[in-house]
Amino acid sequence: MSDAEANSNEEEYFESYADLEVHKLMLADSVRNEAYRTAICDNPDIFNGKTVLDVGTGTGFLAILCAKAGATKVYAVEASDMAELATINVHENEVVDKVQVVQSRVEDVELPEKVDIIISEWMGFYLLHESMLDSVIFARDKFLKPEGLMYPYKCILYSAPSYSPDLFEFWGNISGVQMNTIGQLYRTKYTGKPEIMELDPNNILSKPVEVYQFNTKDVQLNDLNNISKNVYSECIKNGHVNGISLWFDVFFHASNKSDIILSTAPVSSPSQLTHWKQTVIVLPTEKAVVKTENVHYKLFISKNESNPRHYNIELSFLDSDESNTMESETVVDKKKEEFKKHHNADSDYDEYNSSSDD
Ligand SMILES: C[S@@+](CC[C@H](N)C(=O)[O-])C[C@H]1O[C@@H](n2cnc3c(N)ncnc32)[C@H](O)[C@@H]1O
Repeated sequence: MSDAEANSNEEEYFESYADLEVHKLMLADSVRNEAYRTAICDNPDIFNGKTVLDVGTGTGFLAILCAKAGATKVYAVEASDMAELATINVHENEVVDKVQVVQSRVEDVELPEKVDIIISEWMGFYLLHESMLDSVIFARDKFLKPEGLMYPYKCILYSAPSYSPDLFEFWGNISGVQMNTIGQLYRTKYTGKPEIMELDPNNILSKPVEVYQFNTKDVQLNDLNNISKNVYSECIKNGHVNGISLWFDVFFHASNKSDIILSTAPVSSPSQLTHWKQTVIVLPTEKAVVKTENVHYKLFISKNESNPRHYNIELSFLDSDESNTMESETVVDKKKEEFKKHHNADSDYDEYNSSSDD
């Protein structure tokens, strides 16, 4: 990738985060918000009197919570123009004496001191999309005191065979007419890229298997380039597998209590669903399975060389020749897509953007 291409990718990335609608989508995720709020505000003895760095503060949400929990100084670093709105929020919440908003990439910032805690909401779809963790690692190595804490501190990526009825069942019976062949063609458009979907926990066909686990205090950039896992999943029920799904949990320290967990696993109640939903690698055909049958597959998740904010996800079945390679989409397109779904109208996002450009 040339320097010009890299710069244009980065510009596009930070422009997408200058859009208030994208932040509203995250701020409307009450599962996400509550996990962070509990981890911060219910643990004042961890935050009280501490210096904190919030990597990618966005609207300042986490930085303001840290100040409310007693942090004496919070460096709230944000590269996009959202930094201006973060400053407004810091004033509105009367924490201006504690929170200092700095508009900069964290890679370019200088701080006058090392910090006790680094907090960040850096997770992308299937945990790794966007590669924002790279910036958090950079900040950790430069600014965290040796005994400092990372929020979140542990991350686990899970996988399981799954069934998504919408993709397959629709074409089987349209007012009595079968269109399964068209259904097959239609699905090919879903098999080239991972799909962000909401899975019913009843349609997860095995216990989740850990694909990757790491600790944010010591994970290294190299650890995130190539992740390979042979998954052996024993089905817990009869059913049809038409996708391999991925989701993640992240963990926060709590004082004298068990960890606080932000989980993006499939859930039965809409109020528990996060904006990350689940990521599904859709299979071109479905396969019937029975309880106790094993589904064996290999996942190879590798950073895309031409755009390091993307990953390639390669899926191959270990007991057949089937394989599927896909590149994750751009952040901007994914956020756009989520925005459209949120508003239930195709034109909203473009209308919003063109009007905000005026
Ligand atoms: C997922 S959003 C989270 C925003 C906010 N912390 C929240 O929880 O609502 C990530 C934010 O980090 C910013 N960001 C990403 N990489 C960054 C970097 N290297 N330096 C500074 N800001 C960054 C993005 O512009 C975006 O606003």
